[in-house]
Amino acid sequence: MSTQIIIAKDEEALSAKAAQVFLESHAQAVKERGRFTVALSGGDSPKKFFRRLAEPYYRDRVSWAQVYAFWGDERCVPPDHPESNYKMAHDLLLSKVPIPQKNILRIPAEMEPPHDAAKAYENTLKLFFNLDRPLPVFDFNLLGVGEDGHTASLFPGTTALKEKLHWVSANFVEKLKAHRITLTFPVINNSRRVVFLCTGAAKAPILKEVLKKDGPVSYPAQLVNPVKGELLWLLDGPAASKLPPAVHNEAVHV
Ligand code: 6PG
Repeated sequence: MSTQIIIAKDEEALSAKAAQVFLESHAQAVKERGRFTVALSGGDSPKKFFRRLAEPYYRDRVSWAQVYAFWGDERCVPPDHPESNYKMAHDLLLSKVPIPQKNILRIPAEMEPPHDAAKAYENTLKLFFNLDRPLPVFDFNLLGVGEDGHTASLFPGTTALKEKLHWVSANFVEKLKAHRITLTFPVINNSRRVVFLCTGAAKAPILKEVLKKDGPVSYPAQLVNPVKGELLWLLDGPAASKLPPAVHNEAVHV
């Protein structure tokens, strides 16, 4: 696994860098395998990045017919709900680019009970990545980090953190009093490239802890360690503002 930290001066520069990395990953995947499989994250952090990708400069450099959009996690709400990660990506990006509808494979998180939703998505992944493969391989797995150190919907103290067999889990999150549907660490860590996208000063304290060299593993985001793939942290200045000098000096600044 190779890890790189890139620090952009602000959120605008960060979204441009993220879009450039997306283009590079897309070009390599399409050249090598004829398709580009992407697991998208939710929340606020990806919004500028999604809007950027929908701009003509980036949109017209992607062969969207070869892009397959999945999600790393989803809230247990219908796809038209304001909290839906699918809705956010659809509204800001997928509705603005020529990606075929069949290439959009959302998590059916509105299914009840949540375990059925997880099972259904796992079956979708098994069919897409063909059944005999031990684990799916996402070319580009986009993740965020919560202020509590969660990533995807792998929250501290939840059962899905320990899931080693299933690809998708219905994870009950006590503090949310709700289930979330999430990819599990075996799948995330089997990605060719995992990209954490973190913006804003509010993330500075948790990033200081998560990116601490040789520190204790106390947060779910620290358990993202691609087995063979690349791990890329894309941060803006405010989010990186509490990183120690050693980490700042090693980072690439754009
Ligand atoms: C979600 C996300 C989640 C997110 C973090 C950070 O469903 O909310 O997938 O893991 O990446 O909570 O969220 P913000 O980007 O809103 O800070």
